[in-house]
This record gives sequence, C-alpha cells and structure tokens, in this order.
Amino acid sequence: MAPVPAPAPGTSSVITLNINGEKHTLPVDHRTTLLDALREHLDLTGSKKGCDQGQCGACTVLLDGRRAVSCLQFAVAAEGREVTTIEGVAEGERLHPVQQAFLDLDGYQCGYCTPGQICSALGVIEEHAAGWPSAATADVRPEAGPPPLSADEIRERMSGNLCRCGAYVSIVEAVARAAGIEAADAHGAAADPGTADRGTETKGAVA
Ligand code: FES
Ligand code: FES
Repeated sequence: MAPVPAPAPGTSSVITLNINGEKHTLPVDHRTTLLDALREHLDLTGSKKGCDQGQCGACTVLLDGRRAVSCLQFAVAAEGREVTTIEGVAEGERLHPVQQAFLDLDGYQCGYCTPGQICSALGVIEEHAAGWPSAATADVRPEAGPPPLSADEIRERMSGNLCRCGAYVSIVEAVARAAGIEAADAHGAAADPGTADRGTETKGAVA
C-alpha cells in the first residue's frame, strides 16, 4: 500500500474538541468533517454515516444544544463548542428519557438511524419548549405562544431524520412520550397521511 502523503503545510491543525464534557486534542486535516473526526479519529462511532451529504440525519449531534448534521460540519469549526453525541446522552447507566421512550415503544428496527433520531428528538423538545414554530405551526404569531406538540408537529420537526426501516409511527410516539405527552393519533395519522390528525392535537406541556 502506498504511504499516505504528509499534509501540505497549512492544511492541517491541532484542535481541541469538547465532546460530551471531555476535551479531546487531535490533529486533523482541515477538510475533516466532525463526523469523521468523531468516528475515525476518536472512535465515537455512535453517530452514523448514512448519506454523508446532509440528507438523512443519521449523523445528527448537538452543537451547543442545537441540532446539527455532523457530516456537513468541519471539525475545525466545532472547536470551542460543546458537542453532544449519543454517547453522552445517558447519565451513566441510566438512559435519558428520550432513549428510554425509544426503547419502550420500539422506536427503531435495525437501529442505524436511532442515534441521530434521538439527538434530533432532544433538539426538538428543547426547540418546542423555547417556543420555536415549525412549518406545521398554524399560528406563528408571538402572542399565540408555543403550539401544542402534536404528532404533525413532531413529524415536521423530525423530518430531517430518515428511517429506512420505516419506524416512524413508533418514533413519533417515543418523542411524544419523552416530551411528556401522548401522541394518541400517531397510528391513525401514519395510516392516512393525507388526513393526518388535523384537529386532534395532543395535549400537555413539554417537560
Ligand atoms: S450522514 Fe449526515 S445527513 Fe446523512
Ligand atoms: S431503525 Fe433502521 S433505519 Fe431507522
């Protein structure tokens, strides 16, 4: 095998990444994505590579608490930010409520998309609690307040995360449960997306 050529001067840097509360110092080529830095340099393989072009959400992590697809983020640009991957979601042996809900409600089949789904769900719950509207929000006036986190809202807010196993119904239920509500309409809405749960919003506050 031909030796890997040394990087040209000015094309690599030594960076320090703050991942799940731990600092990691590593040399990276400037073209290295955060996803590759996690998986190939730091052996944090929970974040998955699906499309490698920002389309599937399998690589979703949290950057300073907000969702980001790590395949479109350069590792050097993540320096100085707090990166949370699926490996940092649980508290020791205790699963995070979002993880537990996915487990309890079968929010997965093969599990490949699941780390990204869970990181995205964490972002969804935070964004909703902060009052952010989505494309599914009927009334976006500030005085209208946060919309109920209906199954429609969850589907829209999670729409950047694809699941080739089609576990969407259970994923919606899991996100709803983790948010402290019941998505009673999830099954019916999935069976008939054209009439998805209009007017049957789930009730309750987001934890
Ligand atoms: S691998 Fe990043 S969005 Fe698909
Ligand atoms: S559980 Fe298999 S891709 Fe989602």
